[in-house]
Amino acid sequence: MRFITSFEIVRQALKDFTNEIDLPSNKVINQIPLDQLIQKLDLSSCIKKGGLEGQGLKDFLSTFLSYQTRLHHSGYLGHQCAAPHYAAALGGFVNNFTNNVPSIYEMGPSSVALEVFLVNWMLEKVGWKPTPLTALSRMAEETFGGGVLVNGGSIANLTALIMARTLAAQEVWQEGNPDGLSILLPSESHYSLTKAAGILGIGKKAIHFVDVDGRGAVIPDSLPSIFKKIQEMGHLPIALVANACNTPVGIYDPLDEIADFCQEQKLWLHIDGAHGASALLSKTHQHKLKGVERADSLVWDAHKLLQVPSLCAALLVKNHKHLDQAMPVGDNASYLFHDKEQPGLDTLHRTIETTKPGLGERLFFVLGSIGQDGMADFIDRQYQLALDAYHYLQSLADFECPVEPESNILCFQYTGAVFDSLFLRKKLLDAGEFYLTTTLFKGTRYLRLVFMSPNTELKHIEHLVSSIREIAAKI
Ligand SMILES: Cc1ncc(COP(=O)(O)O)c(C=O)c1O
Repeated sequence: MRFITSFEIVRQALKDFTNEIDLPSNKVINQIPLDQLIQKLDLSSCIKKGGLEGQGLKDFLSTFLSYQTRLHHSGYLGHQCAAPHYAAALGGFVNNFTNNVPSIYEMGPSSVALEVFLVNWMLEKVGWKPTPLTALSRMAEETFGGGVLVNGGSIANLTALIMARTLAAQEVWQEGNPDGLSILLPSESHYSLTKAAGILGIGKKAIHFVDVDGRGAVIPDSLPSIFKKIQEMGHLPIALVANACNTPVGIYDPLDEIADFCQEQKLWLHIDGAHGASALLSKTHQHKLKGVERADSLVWDAHKLLQVPSLCAALLVKNHKHLDQAMPVGDNASYLFHDKEQPGLDTLHRTIETTKPGLGERLFFVLGSIGQDGMADFIDRQYQLALDAYHYLQSLADFECPVEPESNILCFQYTGAVFDSLFLRKKLLDAGEFYLTTTLFKGTRYLRLVFMSPNTELKHIEHLVSSIREIAAKI
């Protein structure tokens, strides 16, 4: 009964939070100093007294939500986090409540069913063979795809590079890294990849940055000379990474041409599609990933463009064996790894994590609600909005964009006055009508819009332009 009453209070608070999102009194972002916020939330007395329910719960939620950044707001143009669909949040709630752990089948058969089904659904979108569902065929020697859902694109990228390293240096789990391990990365790659290289003991000196063009896309013709240099240095490249799309400006690398090179050199091709792999669902935009099926591994985050709350990232591989053999487990986990009658599938050995939540619930509930065509429509809408905003900004004398967008990421600069983008961002965030980021691209810091909210329209970008001009006029 207490649960039902509290649940109703939470339901109502969240309904108000999302329904009234664009009221003028609701800022997209509302930051006060941390110590003041902790005091306002009365956290200390809450945990001393307990009993956070009834009116106390209502009051707490009212303050708590008033300082939360509103990702569904039309002015939310910030980081690449989804404005989650309510159904995805409900899926997460169901898993929180049951706390089933799909790392091993017996700890959550239905959760495993969702994960395996969704991984197969994604494998088919890539053009890879899904994992057969019966134990017998899994043990067959044939090659088929595999994957796992993990807590974020950063962990997924790290796992992919662990896999590539195990393959390039089989002795690594016994002997440690051999000398000269290296990796090829486009210079516009997400920092999780350089971090992963560091974690793997591949120092900065052994990261070879691949040349990119004026739009930030890899120049495939530059690959042979870089590779030759690496070989002359005596380095052992474990993988080449390509972006689909890159983080700063959202541009896709030419995957097919990069795959030609990797095939020739027998080099592992990992595609970081954390942000842009969702375009595989769109008939209009899937051509941007042409050649993706020729890669060895792919990261695809559902918590970016698939309206799923953080986190739900898929690491997919063309050959399941590479993932299954990436991280040999030691003998000291006998409570988990042992012979047993197995009606399902364990994925524990495929992840860095041991216990993990049912991430499939988040993605399945939203797909179950709007269907894959509904999801494709959402992606088309967000990509088209970025393009419309680009044409609009380019038509203005006092704004310019460095690159025509290929995704829902758009960078621009105000040229009507000389002040830097960080200053402009601060002014906009202080006013609380817009939340946007900045990025360095080709040595210049640009304002950066990521169209995540389903409530943003072109008229909001027109309003953003007016706001920027007003700020400029006051200086
Ligand atoms: C291209 C790319 N790769 C990886 C990541 C990291 O993903 P996550 O934040 O889920 O760890 C991001 C995040 O923005 C990204 O844009």
